[in-house]
Amino acid sequence: MALSGSLALALLFSLLSCYASVPSLASSDGFIQCLSAAIPRQLLYTQSSPSFTSVLVSSIRNPKFSTPGTVRPLCIVTPTNASHVCGRRNDVRIRVRSGGHDYEGLSYRSARPEVFAVVDLANLRSVRVDQKAATAWVDSGATLGGLYYAVSKASSQLAFPAGLWPTIGVGGHFSGGGFGMLLRKYGVAIDNVLDATLVDANGRILDKQAMGADVFWAIRGGGGESFGIVLSWQVKLVPVPPTVTMFSVTKSVDEGAVDILTRWQEVAPALPEDLFIRVVAQKQAANFESMYLGTPDTLLPLMRSRFPELGLNRTHCKEMTWIQSVPYIYLGSAATVEDILNRTTATKSFSKATSDYVRQAIPKDVWVKIFAWLGKPDAGLMIMDPYGGKIGSPPESATPFPHRGGVLYNIQYMNFWSAATDGSAQTRWLKDLYAFMGPYVSKNPREAYANYRDLDLGQNVVVGNVTSYEAGKVWGEKYYKGNFQRLATAKSKVDPDDYFRNEQSIPPLPATK
Ligand code: FDA
Repeated sequence: MALSGSLALALLFSLLSCYASVPSLASSDGFIQCLSAAIPRQLLYTQSSPSFTSVLVSSIRNPKFSTPGTVRPLCIVTPTNASHVCGRRNDVRIRVRSGGHDYEGLSYRSARPEVFAVVDLANLRSVRVDQKAATAWVDSGATLGGLYYAVSKASSQLAFPAGLWPTIGVGGHFSGGGFGMLLRKYGVAIDNVLDATLVDANGRILDKQAMGADVFWAIRGGGGESFGIVLSWQVKLVPVPPTVTMFSVTKSVDEGAVDILTRWQEVAPALPEDLFIRVVAQKQAANFESMYLGTPDTLLPLMRSRFPELGLNRTHCKEMTWIQSVPYIYLGSAATVEDILNRTTATKSFSKATSDYVRQAIPKDVWVKIFAWLGKPDAGLMIMDPYGGKIGSPPESATPFPHRGGVLYNIQYMNFWSAATDGSAQTRWLKDLYAFMGPYVSKNPREAYANYRDLDLGQNVVVGNVTSYEAGKVWGEKYYKGNFQRLATAKSKVDPDDYFRNEQSIPPLPATK
């Protein structure tokens, strides 16, 4: 058993067994009574609890889902231990929250009227590193910062390849794939998952062997809230050198950004795996941000031979340890390593995002037009992460995350606004740019990254009491390509009654398929 608070497993078991499948307000009183009898008062927050709002917003990362119109949970449970056993007697669905970064807020709000409770795993956050074996067990409620910190304390030469933002929760991040600056060297986070503990809809606690190969395959990237609650993950840690080199070089359009970016598309995915150079394009400039697993002594000659157009020189290079690079990317050079343990974020910006994959380099004349989009009033930005290397090596079906061989890079489009506006101009810009990009990105399906969730790509439809497979295909094949059907098969095995669901959860496979 992997979870540090194994008692907590029992709590979740008990919580799950409190739920059946048909939500109704009438049944919710009994549900709360059930929980009150089973759970210490301080771990259960009903809407009338004085701390309900502060617990709810504690990991809301997008204030647009914290307005009076947001469909909020009936109650929030924050499991820490176990003596909270409760029989099956009520009909309320749950949503699971680990770090709360879901782009559509689906871990704590519903896009449609619905009665639901939130199980917030923030208190289940231990990380247990086995330095000798170079593995770790990490609870879903840990943040990436918490994971990285614990790994670096155990060994300065071990790391884990996952996202850039330290406040992201392990539970949601691994459920959708998870990539960061080590993606070319070590692939996606879920490529490095060895085992996991899952609570299924019947309250059973399953490890890799007990859940079976299909379900273990599915939870590694097939989307959160679809198969059960993943409590804990065993991961393989990866070696990093004592020194990494970071650089950030900004080129304006006047300084040749269009030519350099056009060239970057071919160069970046073909570089040695130790070198990762991503691009943030905003307004009339492109910022090339990089991590190199080595020192400037080998980086500079490599850049001179492979990407001289960027004009990298020693003054651009900052040497540091891998763990120091985490706060450096996130908060800049003044940040300390301890800053990555801070779970709170003070994000005041409302935001909307979507994504694309590029398999053929976009011509220069199109980049000229893209920079015209980026120069519009109310424009947002584009973040481009190069693939190639390890992320591109496994076959598309090795994990649910299918964006492998042949992908040059991922694009994330984002736009931001403040509470002072309704965001319609910024959202329109995002939609119009997405439409403009159609001819230049992947097709049939137009691929998208599951962790950059966008409900505009399609939403589930419930027919009878089960999510429609055909409606799910619309968004599901963008995130998972040909793996969508196998995900639905796994769903049918572990949750045939579709207890775990949200607006983009995997539907069970119909018997006719
Ligand atoms: P959250 O708790 O909101 O969960 C997301 C989804 O997973 C929800 O549907 C939830 O119900 C479900 N879920 C959560 N825990 C679960 C569990 N234990 N078992 C089953 N289901 C569970 N991505 C990336 O790959 N690289 C990056 O660098 C970044 N950077 C980034 C920065 C910022 C500021 C944001 C807001 C987002 C990113 N992301 C990212 C995207 C991020 O990976 C994605 O939003 C993850 O789903 C967030 O996981 P959380 O646990 O924080 O979210």
